[in-house]
Amino acid sequence: MTPPPITLLHGVDIPRIGLGTWPFVGEECQQIVRTALDLGYRLIDTSHKYDNEDAVGEAIRRSGIPRDELFVTSKFNKENHSVDGVRTAYEESLRRTGLDYLDLFLIHWPVPALNRYVDAWEGLVALLEAGSVRAIGVSNFKPAHLDRIIAATGYVPDVNQIQLSIDIARTLPRTAHDNLGITTEAWSPLGRGATLRDNEQVTAIAHHLGRSPAQVLLRWHVQMGIVPIPRSSNSQQLAQNLDLFDFELSPAQMSVLDTLDRGEDAARDSDDPSNGH
Ligand SMILES: NC(=O)c1ccc[n+]([C@@H]2O[C@H](COP(=O)([O-])OP(=O)(O)OC[C@H]3O[C@@H](n4cnc5c(N)ncnc54)[C@H](OP(=O)(O)O)[C@@H]3O)[C@@H](O)[C@H]2O)c1
Repeated sequence: MTPPPITLLHGVDIPRIGLGTWPFVGEECQQIVRTALDLGYRLIDTSHKYDNEDAVGEAIRRSGIPRDELFVTSKFNKENHSVDGVRTAYEESLRRTGLDYLDLFLIHWPVPALNRYVDAWEGLVALLEAGSVRAIGVSNFKPAHLDRIIAATGYVPDVNQIQLSIDIARTLPRTAHDNLGITTEAWSPLGRGATLRDNEQVTAIAHHLGRSPAQVLLRWHVQMGIVPIPRSSNSQQLAQNLDLFDFELSPAQMSVLDTLDRGEDAARDSDDPSNGH
């Protein structure tokens, strides 16, 4: 049985797990999202950058699932880091998805070299205050970036979507989020490449529980109160990734997984000018 959703800072409920849609586009994306919706996924993560908002919207329409049972997230790029730019980005995301509203709209990357992410945040606050979007947040923000937007506006993001997996466990940012009431979403929750799924300690726990390594990795997120957004092009793996709520990792197993953290330096650095868009 799926546990209750997490209630975000501005009062909206978010499911405990979602579907990542990068790098799928077109017909393939539409089919994967449709399969995921049929399996029971209710949180779908897209972005202007992924070039698949149209396919996500089409899959949602074809599923016939009432809009208010879904939680749709999109994100915008640095070209729209201004108050008016965010309004335009939002309208364009609605046009591409064909939806009347998004549940969550995110600044995709802070791009500090541009120094416009505070303006972008002011634009999101304006959308929230106008009642156009249900929740607002950021992605790839470090604690210092969060402090700056909060100091400028008094508004705390509902969500920060960051790179996070058991080997890139992001302890410092997660503590900052917890102190501020921000919900942490994890991109690449299964880790880049197959290394993490093949890790000896992960596979030993999976074997012991009669689960797959991916399920062990995702269950760790759920138990930490993090919302993972794994993607898969394989329907059995999509089903498996959602099937996390009838088993538990013991404190001892959680501690073993905690030892795999490679530290903050292993994450993509959003202050590095070569990262972000
Ligand atoms: N905000 C950001 O800046 C940002 C950046 C990157 C990604 N994202 C979002 O995060 C989502 C997920 O991240 P990601 O795509 O990097 O990585 P991920 O979801 O952690 O891993 C995807 C990989 O895991 C495999 N996989 C999935 N389920 C599996 C299972 N049960 N057993 C074995 N292998 C499995 C997939 O292969 P198969 O397809 O063969 O299953 C794929 O190779 C993206 O789709 C995107 O929406 C956001």
